Amino acid sequence: MAKRGPVFACQNCGAAYGRWQGKCDACGEWNTIALEDSPAISGPVATRPARGKGRVFKLESLEGQAEDAPRVASGIAELDRVTGGGFVKGSVILIGGDPGIGKSTLLMQACAALADAGHRVAYISGEEAVAQVRLRAERLGLARAPVELAAETNVEDIVATLSQGAPPRLAVIDSIQTMWTETVESAPGTVTQVRGAAQALIRFAKTSGTAVILVGHVTKDGQIAGPRVVEHMVDAVASFEGDGAHHFRILRAAKNRFGPTDEIGVFEMTGKGLAEVPNPSALFLAGRDAAAPGTAVFAGMEGTRPLLVEMQALVAPSSLGTPRRAVVGWDSSRLAMIVAVLETHGGVKLGMHDIYLNVAGGLRIAEPAADLAAAAALVSSLVGAPLPAGTVYFGELGLSGAVRPVTQAEARIKEAAKLGFTTAIAPPAARETAGGAPLRVETVTHIADLVARIAASGGRTRRPPGEDG
Ligand code: TYD
Ligand code: MG
Repeated sequence: MAKRGPVFACQNCGAAYGRWQGKCDACGEWNTIALEDSPAISGPVATRPARGKGRVFKLESLEGQAEDAPRVASGIAELDRVTGGGFVKGSVILIGGDPGIGKSTLLMQACAALADAGHRVAYISGEEAVAQVRLRAERLGLARAPVELAAETNVEDIVATLSQGAPPRLAVIDSIQTMWTETVESAPGTVTQVRGAAQALIRFAKTSGTAVILVGHVTKDGQIAGPRVVEHMVDAVASFEGDGAHHFRILRAAKNRFGPTDEIGVFEMTGKGLAEVPNPSALFLAGRDAAAPGTAVFAGMEGTRPLLVEMQALVAPSSLGTPRRAVVGWDSSRLAMIVAVLETHGGVKLGMHDIYLNVAGGLRIAEPAADLAAAAALVSSLVGAPLPAGTVYFGELGLSGAVRPVTQAEARIKEAAKLGFTTAIAPPAARETAGGAPLRVETVTHIADLVARIAASGGRTRRPPGEDG
């Protein structure tokens, strides 16, 4: 029998408690537990109907008419790729990202594209005044697009306004953290408010068929600020990433009820807004010094899309008792594993060396297929020999030192050939799939093969000491 009484809920993750406590057991946050009386959040208290009084509903079979979700494409190919072919009618997408990364710019461009195509589109800004939004649109050369614009933060007013006339095809709410609803008592900006406002906007999307995009701020550790519950409530979550030092931006889907979650869209921030980058490999390899030791080109995949990136390693004798290991853009425990495999099975002594590994261009790689490229870069830096020009690497390393096959070898090889590479160093299985590619596939089965190969080429091309740099 469910006990009635006060319900306390964590404002971060939504976990419910019977009494107050300082730390949330579910998400580990401190001071996030507060008294809640909204049954929508704490869940309705079960009032069991008398036996046999429940309403009988019809159960369906899995088989049946499955319709494709009705979508409207923005025409910005890199954006449509991430959403899975366009915004689904009545769906809600949460787009997170650091301040200044270009969320408002991207969404204004999407709004303008849809409005120009004749759809009703609304852009509601809670952060900027109408004049500021206009100024941006002008800078983007989109000032004449028939986007309906407002600076509003009250969700009830927004829903009432958007419900007038034909429902918009797309409504952008920039940002959800600035919105507040009258149905919740808490002060604007609190987590309860954000959740309440999101709930109201989601309800509007579902009833009107408008696709709603919520912009969300990101906290220091990269989470979309506010309740994680918002992420559970929406249909899709995407993050807009990039770093201040580089011009490219990546839109990455983290959750998508209507499409793939492993796709990325690549953009470049220019003086006139975000430009699509249809060939990201060329962007990530631009300005690369192929003759320098310690760099290897990794033929990677982002979703269904091949992406060539440069992995840079610096291995230098250490003056510290415990040598430094630093990695940017890759997993540090993965680096530790590669170093251990190189030492144990490759005969490479790295114990007295500082090791730095960097993925050029500020990209983040999560694929184990990058192991071989990382190992090649490390060995190349250690022996001071540049890797042969025109070569890409991919393959996963096992703890035994064996090079293991990876998925989508063919797509990787094709992309490398397209960008003018002539050789791929790959796991054995890749040769069968490479059929017909204008690129030589050289297979390595064990880490020792790779080390021997680099050491041999190093013997020929190593610069005499003193001529370095
Ligand atoms: P913005 O879309 O306002 O970021 P967010 O909404 O994510 O906070 O973008 C702000 C940055 O983008 C700002 O630093 C200026 C830069 N920018 C350009 O470089 N070119 C442009 O055409 C625009 C509109 C912005
Ligand atoms: Mg903004």
